[in-house]
Amino acid sequence: MMNVLNDTLIAPLVRGLFLDATRGPAIVAAAKADAASHNAAAARFSLPLPDSALGAEGALDEAAAAAALKAAFGAALAGGAKAVLPALVEVFLGGEKRAYAVSGPESIPGIPPAALAGAAASRSAEPAAANSALGRAAVVAGRVALVTGGAQGFGAEIVRGLAASGAFVYIADMNLAGAEQLADELNAASGGRRASAVSVNVSDEASVAAMFDHIAAATGGLDLIVSNAGIVRAGSVLEQDEKSFRLVTDVNYVAFFLIAKHGGRLLARQRRTAPRWLTDIVQINSKSGLEGSNKNGAYAGSKFGGLGLVQSFALELVAHGIKVNAICPGNFLDGPLWSDPVKGLFVQYLNSGKVPGAKSVADVRAFYEAKVPMGRGATGADVMRALYYIVEQEYETGQALPVAGGQVMLN
Ligand SMILES: NC(=O)c1ccc[n+]([C@@H]2O[C@H](COP(=O)([O-])OP(=O)(O)OC[C@H]3O[C@@H](n4cnc5c(N)ncnc54)[C@H](O)[C@@H]3O)[C@@H](O)[C@H]2O)c1
Repeated sequence: MMNVLNDTLIAPLVRGLFLDATRGPAIVAAAKADAASHNAAAARFSLPLPDSALGAEGALDEAAAAAALKAAFGAALAGGAKAVLPALVEVFLGGEKRAYAVSGPESIPGIPPAALAGAAASRSAEPAAANSALGRAAVVAGRVALVTGGAQGFGAEIVRGLAASGAFVYIADMNLAGAEQLADELNAASGGRRASAVSVNVSDEASVAAMFDHIAAATGGLDLIVSNAGIVRAGSVLEQDEKSFRLVTDVNYVAFFLIAKHGGRLLARQRRTAPRWLTDIVQINSKSGLEGSNKNGAYAGSKFGGLGLVQSFALELVAHGIKVNAICPGNFLDGPLWSDPVKGLFVQYLNSGKVPGAKSVADVRAFYEAKVPMGRGATGADVMRALYYIVEQEYETGQALPVAGGQVMLN
């Protein structure tokens, strides 16, 4: 009966105990089982699992293990001279033992005090402050978030906004070097542990599953998953090759299923011991998920389909305290997709003559700005405000929130 206890299963259950006890987030990291390096004076709970936590096949029964851990945790809390939460938790079953070091958001250096206190700071004119939505920072302060495609573009904006508001952020991207660079920058600026890069191909199930296993062992779970990675391969329905069409479908549509499946399992597991804790899966969709896009059917189709998944998963995952919503931004004209001086869409559209009469990149940009009632492209700050609303809102799921300056409107 060895190797029944594994971090993928146990760490989220332990994290849930803390979410439930404090009604706030926590970091639960797998630690060395002897834990000799830990402060001996720090409170330590030893939680035994009875043999009845084993299922018929000799594997751990998740529901039984969750119930046993909750009972043992409650007894340990009640048994102390005063109710002090432990910094180290050990879980035993037969001859096996796993240990977890537990820390709260206050142990993440660099979180602005206002964020922890939840002070309602007035909205600042400073772009960085607007991006971090400091007035609402308490919504995510200390929470553990994952942003796919976080190395650049909207993803990097979301990573920066969450980190500035006191969250710990996994930057998950195929471009590991870019993700590491951003994590290093944020950690150096905060003087602490604010972000961590993780390599993933969101359209590959084994890669997605391995990422969530890594996260379970490193922080015990997550509070917010932002499924942002996405690609565009524009093309006429009469001309586009099947390979490009399938690639867009895989990265924008199938990948959301993989993220919701493996991320949802982790969130649901954590919820077993934290039945009041709500978590979020947020899909970064597009205004093209609400309205067709000429010669861009693979993209618009994948985004329309994404909303079908959001609505369907929302109906199912509500039973696990997981809200599932989408944000549908307008064009991020300042982002690399549009503004890259070599391969950005402004340059491409100028060269292909897509915008009649345009003689410069500025002409192409003005053409797209004129399509928006509010006269400009979407920014990271616009998306962050929608994200904070979704996380803060406890009475909505399965929705698509446009952030498009009035360019698309819901029926
Ligand atoms: N840029 C816009 O105008 C715009 C508008 C509306 C919606 N969106 C949506 O926002 C999201 C981000 O778009 P962006 O323009 O910021 O993109 P981007 O091209 O600037 O960045 C995308 C990031 O995703 C990563 N990525 C791509 N495929 C991946 C994969 N298979 N696995 C892991 N990582 C992968 C890339 O390495 C990159 O870091 C997309 O879902 C997109 O559809 C963008």
